Amino acid sequence: MFESLRRSALPARNSGILRRPSSTRPTIWLVEENGIRAVVKDFSSNGFLYRNTIGRFLIWRETKAYRRLKGLEGVPRFYRVMDGLALVVEEIKGRSMEGLEDEITLSEDFFRSLKDLVKAVHDRGLAHCDLKRAPNVLMGEDGHPYIIDWCSAITRSEFRFFPLSLIYDRFLQDDFNAIIKLQLRHCPDSVTSPELDRYHSRGRAERFIRNMRDRARAVLQRIA
Ligand SMILES: Nc1ncnc2c1ncn2[C@@H]1O[C@H](COP(=O)(O)OP(=O)(O)O)[C@@H](O)[C@H]1O
Ligand SMILES: [Mg+2]
Repeated sequence: MFESLRRSALPARNSGILRRPSSTRPTIWLVEENGIRAVVKDFSSNGFLYRNTIGRFLIWRETKAYRRLKGLEGVPRFYRVMDGLALVVEEIKGRSMEGLEDEITLSEDFFRSLKDLVKAVHDRGLAHCDLKRAPNVLMGEDGHPYIIDWCSAITRSEFRFFPLSLIYDRFLQDDFNAIIKLQLRHCPDSVTSPELDRYHSRGRAERFIRNMRDRARAVLQRIA
């Protein structure tokens, strides 16, 4: 799919622009081929230095995440990378979570599916790390949850050694907490008390770091 698509042809191709670029954000195009629509995240019109450093890095990171997530329901299909600067993925038709609670109330079922999806992502050795941004979670036209924007995702293998492994656990919990935050806006009664506890607790990693700091301080005070 989209094999013949050229980056330079995007502006002339009658592609819709979903979002214009800013100094740090890519252009988001909507393209169509043989009746199939795709979204292109494209850094090619960002400044020279930015696109060739951060832009390429983010496209590389996001591609890596999509490869790991291949075939997972709830994640857009990955089509291809163009020149290391743009990414083509399946368009998810639907609504983002941003402000959605003012219009409709999502069910407990929706959040159960969303948590299953996050769990499946974690089982593939990946944490999303940017679910706190409500525009990154969508409700598809089919009523099912979808997660987009994988450029901040990290892999378990990158964080496998202590103490990074503790930080990784924290990222996994943060992914869940972002979902709980949304669930609290829609159907707070369906959030269980262990979920609430974890949502409010400050996490092992943070406690560990605070403990180390307090001990170091005590030692320093004794020496001084
Ligand atoms: N696969 C997709 N399907 C539908 N809309 C998308 C898709 N990918 C991106 N978008 C739209 O483009 C916006 C920006 O894309 P995103 O990947 O989140 O980039 P950014 O890193 O700039 O936030 C999203 O908030 C969403 O509105
Ligand atoms: Mg985003």
